[in-house]
Amino acid sequence: MSKEQIAPENDKPPSIWPQPKPVWRIAVLANIKDENVERPADVPPDAYADYDHIETIHLIQAALETDGHKTEFIVADQYLPYELKKYKPDICFNIAEGLGGDAREAQIPALLEMLKIPYTASRVLTNAIALDKTLTKRIWRDRNLPVAPFQEFNIGDEPLRHELRFPLFVKPAREGTGMGVDMKAKVENEAELRERVNYVIHAYKQPALVETYLPGREFTVGQIGRPDAALFSRHPEWYAPDGYHRFPIMEVESSHAATPGIYSNAAKSHLLGEEGAPEYICPADVHPDLAKKLHHLALRGHTILGTLDVSRVDIRLDAEGQPRLIEINPLPGLTPGYSDLCIQAAADGITYEDLILEILYLSAGRWGLLQPREQPIKPSKSTNPVGF
Ligand SMILES: Nc1ncnc2c1ncn2[C@@H]1O[C@H](COP(=O)(O)OP(=O)(O)O)[C@@H](O)[C@H]1O
Ligand SMILES: [Mg+2]
Repeated sequence: MSKEQIAPENDKPPSIWPQPKPVWRIAVLANIKDENVERPADVPPDAYADYDHIETIHLIQAALETDGHKTEFIVADQYLPYELKKYKPDICFNIAEGLGGDAREAQIPALLEMLKIPYTASRVLTNAIALDKTLTKRIWRDRNLPVAPFQEFNIGDEPLRHELRFPLFVKPAREGTGMGVDMKAKVENEAELRERVNYVIHAYKQPALVETYLPGREFTVGQIGRPDAALFSRHPEWYAPDGYHRFPIMEVESSHAATPGIYSNAAKSHLLGEEGAPEYICPADVHPDLAKKLHHLALRGHTILGTLDVSRVDIRLDAEGQPRLIEINPLPGLTPGYSDLCIQAAADGITYEDLILEILYLSAGRWGLLQPREQPIKPSKSTNPVGF
């Protein structure tokens, strides 16, 4: 067709949103906090702290439905395969934490891979590694990212390596949401170290990770994207040329929290502004050079582990004021007005609905459920896309 033959109403820039607009059946998969279920005697009091409240699931469903999708919440337990067979979702919105074991956050992705059902965000390997803070740090250290010196204790009486100087910090190697972290996590001497390491190994039935105590400010840095994110996004304008959107940095100021200086499970359990809660400062008041460094480190930490679509990286400053990566959350909490990533998105003017839908569409693009936009975007050379 020659240029002259194009009807005026068709003489428009290429469509920016794939046609026709998709309407999917979306299963929201999660593990739910159930106050009525009795906690077994040998399980620590903060067990299951990372499970979600049913209200959060309903908010995620409502956000997905604002774009016309149908949703159903399915509990991520042993009956999940049968429920998925009944519901036949086009894609799952996965926030399941899993049901125990050394890689519980990878259980549902592994099951979905086996059933060949698309799902949101990171895949099996990243979710497994990220839950294991020691393994994560070994990989980051190998790629020259700054982490505090550390040692994993499996038995409890291993000799302490000489580069680890007191005060030290002891935490379960494979938990989240501040589980196993309280004022006693900071240990000042050999006796306190041994007591805490033994407590963690026995109460949490997993290795204890011992690191140099980082006395400085604490930040959490969220990001969303992929080198080809703008091809599948409803908001391509959010993304930098490398395909990532960096949320404003959030400082967690815990000096007046339930556990002063430590962002523990007890501190996290308090609602925003409540006594005992930390102060969440977003955007954090940081020098632009530090902000740049934090964003850079968080994104490196994300891509090195093959993280997909979304994550939050926790960072603290050491005694010299230098940032050290603590951990990555490829399944960040998504409770509006409460979870760190939601607070960061809100500070950025991004609505909760847009945040949830963005995670959905970036993921759907990888699984071939969406046509890419027509404008080709050159992938950044510095990143290594994983997945489809
Ligand atoms: N090496 C450390 N030095 C000082 N505080 C730490 C250290 N590691 C963790 N913390 C504190 O403990 C909190 C929880 O640790 P983190 O590794 O982020 O685990 P979680 O998965 O439970 O969030 C952090 O937010 C921080 O306040
Ligand atoms: Mg953390």
